[in-house]
Amino acid sequence: MTDTLLEPAAEATTTDPLFQPISIRELTLRNRVSMSPMTRYHSPDGVPGADVASYYQRRAEAGVGLIVTEGVGIDHLTSVDDPAIPHMYGKAALEGWRRVTDAVRAAGGRIFPQLWHQGPLRDPARSNRPDLVGSRPSGHWGKAGHTSYGDDYVDAMRAPTQPMSTGEIADIIAAFAGAARNAMEAGFDGVALHGGHGYLIDSFLWHETNHRDDRYGGDSARRAAFAAEIVAVVRAEIGNAPIMFRFSQHKQQDYGARLGETPEELGALLVPLAEAGVDLFDASGRVFDRPAFEGSNLSLAGWAKKLTGKPTVAIGGIGLGNGLGETLSGSSETKPLDNLQAARDAIARQEFDMAGVGRAILNDPQWVERVRTGQPFIPFDRANLGRLS
Ligand SMILES: Cc1cc2nc3c(=O)[nH]c(=O)nc-3n(C[C@H](O)[C@H](O)[C@H](O)COP(=O)(O)O)c2cc1C
Repeated sequence: MTDTLLEPAAEATTTDPLFQPISIRELTLRNRVSMSPMTRYHSPDGVPGADVASYYQRRAEAGVGLIVTEGVGIDHLTSVDDPAIPHMYGKAALEGWRRVTDAVRAAGGRIFPQLWHQGPLRDPARSNRPDLVGSRPSGHWGKAGHTSYGDDYVDAMRAPTQPMSTGEIADIIAAFAGAARNAMEAGFDGVALHGGHGYLIDSFLWHETNHRDDRYGGDSARRAAFAAEIVAVVRAEIGNAPIMFRFSQHKQQDYGARLGETPEELGALLVPLAEAGVDLFDASGRVFDRPAFEGSNLSLAGWAKKLTGKPTVAIGGIGLGNGLGETLSGSSETKPLDNLQAARDAIARQEFDMAGVGRAILNDPQWVERVRTGQPFIPFDRANLGRLS
């Protein structure tokens, strides 16, 4: 990542790679900027209200090409913990989402919900069902490493639980299918699946949390089977609409964890997902253009594209001078930074296809318009991590 310019370059022409349209299946996005999913905790009883609609509408009005919503719970008892996380089932929530999708579409935007099951990371104490522990492939929380969770919390969460039964696995796969069907009914343009950060789908992919010896565990192909089955049932529900899949090397349990030590290991997990129907991989990282493996300059998104042949989104620190971990821990001040040329160059040489932007768009609803018209970025206000505006 470069760290020289403080203001965005004035490249508001149609030759700017960031502002070229892109088609994913039959869906055309007006530009290459994807708003990354960010949990807001502003949907009481799982129902997104008018304030959630206007929050996304403002980003669409400012020109975001693709909005990916905050994580949204599927219809399963242990999908998400906090009751203010929105969900994708029930009349009230679906009416709320319809208001969101109408508002985004009226502003020329496109929007996918990020369907979410928290798996090992669901905190019973935060939920209104504290008697239920989180669903875990083998009962393991994961190997704790460099994490922002406190020691007491980690100790409590690490207590082993019952491995998931095949019946529970089938119920959850069906719940993803139901959520995808509901999302289409509520007017979404496609579906994003949260397959990263140590949550349920990722906990099947990750060797530290998946010790199963049935068809969902063992070698990479079997660890990918749960995710691949979800992708396949979602495809069956949503026809030709796009499926986006987020994956990450890092986990909330351990920012230093790696899903694949080598490109081959990563490919062995991602290729079956592409074959099952993923159209767009969302390569969640801390620094979007950092080389993912020794011996090559390719970023994580670059590798995902090379390995699967699918379009990819690069994420991590776009428009800002540090990573999310530093913002959360306060270990360095988060400042605006024009590091967009590296993203433009990577898109132009087809290393990856889109720029995923989290904190910068959360901080400033007008961020994409500022980039397009060459206006300076505004200062980052940490309080915006929690606000809904
Ligand atoms: C407040 C906040 C909430 C987040 N919630 C989610 C989430 O629900 N799902 C997800 O996949 N990532 C989530 N993330 C991670 C972002 O999508 C993104 O990957 C991360 O912030 C790195 O991008 P950035 O450097 O542009 O901020 C969240 C990030 C923030 C700041």
